Amino acid sequence: MAYPEHAALEQDPFKGIPSSLIPFANSLLETERYYKQQEPTNVRVGVFAEAARGALREPYFADLVSEMYRFRPDIDHQYAGMLLLRGYQADLLEHDEAYPLAYDQVDAWTEAFEAVENDFLRWALVRNNICGQQVQSNIAERYKSVKLLSALLRERFGERPSHLDIGSSLMHGGIKLAYSHVETDPYTQFGEIQLAQPTHETEAFQPDTRLTALANRAIKQHVEYGSLVGIDITDVNDPVIQKWAMSCSFKPDELMDEHRKREFTHLDSLDRAHNRIEFFRGDFSNFDNRTFRRTSPVKEFDIITFSTVLYQLSTKERTAMVVNALNYLSNDGILLIQDAPDGNFSKRFNYYTELIDGTAIEAGPQEILRWGNGRCRKAIAGLGKFSIDGTFYTLAEALERWNATEPTPNDQLPTRHSSS
Ligand SMILES: C[S@@+](CC[C@H](N)C(=O)[O-])C[C@H]1O[C@@H](n2cnc3c(N)ncnc32)[C@H](O)[C@@H]1O
Repeated sequence: MAYPEHAALEQDPFKGIPSSLIPFANSLLETERYYKQQEPTNVRVGVFAEAARGALREPYFADLVSEMYRFRPDIDHQYAGMLLLRGYQADLLEHDEAYPLAYDQVDAWTEAFEAVENDFLRWALVRNNICGQQVQSNIAERYKSVKLLSALLRERFGERPSHLDIGSSLMHGGIKLAYSHVETDPYTQFGEIQLAQPTHETEAFQPDTRLTALANRAIKQHVEYGSLVGIDITDVNDPVIQKWAMSCSFKPDELMDEHRKREFTHLDSLDRAHNRIEFFRGDFSNFDNRTFRRTSPVKEFDIITFSTVLYQLSTKERTAMVVNALNYLSNDGILLIQDAPDGNFSKRFNYYTELIDGTAIEAGPQEILRWGNGRCRKAIAGLGKFSIDGTFYTLAEALERWNATEPTPNDQLPTRHSSS
């Protein structure tokens, strides 16, 4: 089978693509541009998007994508693109030793599409994954927001705060929190962040040195967690799910980052039997609250997270999940929602941490952090507020307050509001 020439596609990016798939092709084009121009460290995602857009002109490939949309009619186009990439990545991790190194070329991807097309078993697995699975990225670094807020709200939660993680996948976030106080373990320490003032423009990111130093100090604060619980719709003990989750947790280029790979394997190994973090399987939009209440180690949690979960669901399911989560929130607990609100991860500064404060639920979700992307290394502090001792603070204000009340560490802090 011949795939279309790259140059011909550049003149009309949608030429020959069935009209029903043009919105998807458009979203692939957006992904391609984002990864090539804004995130070249992950260029293989962009190259995949370019190859997939080209292949949509081929009936076989167009049929496979249409099949995905038939099974999931409400799926967001960006999310569909990520599912398709993860479907092929899971296949290539099994079948091509040159993956991902050689996949910075469109031809490598088109050959892979062709190879899958010609092998029924490989094709069936790709099809099953993209039609039936959810993306299950395990990015433990996303949970540094939990660590940060645990430090800032220490007086509120007391010693050993509890945490419920809904949409936990393999629970790497909870595992990192559980073992983050083991300072000798390099893989359970959260990486540093760069933090900018709330007024900051996203175009030329410029961290604020003082805010950055304060945030990193708070993230490093020693916190030992009490009860930790994860809930996921999938069975995280099933080896097939574990393999799929592993494939979903890496962008292709990240598979060449040995530290990230070792971190993944290490976190996976720390609590295989769920002794430290309890796991409950269930669809939280239609949850068996009775059984959970009967068996959960605690009935109310200090911190509840939906990290990169709600974007996968319909509006109705999202509402049901958030309302049900509030039933498990302690009176002075916090609910954290982290997501790209429109499901678009191919846009800079489109991944937010929002907080619902159990002491002021009526105030609704408050923007606390706006991250450069879902890998959580750079962020802009939000103007949303949360309560400490009855007074409401923004994140920047809370960090200053925390600094004033903590015993002074030896290292020097940059002066207030200086920029690096
Ligand atoms: C993209 S992963 C995020 C994993 C982890 N929270 C993180 O941020 O690294 C989303 C997870 O939500 C789970 N999920 C989706 N819908 C769910 C539901 N209705 N109830 C429980 N879990 C759900 C998926 O199975 C998947 O493991």
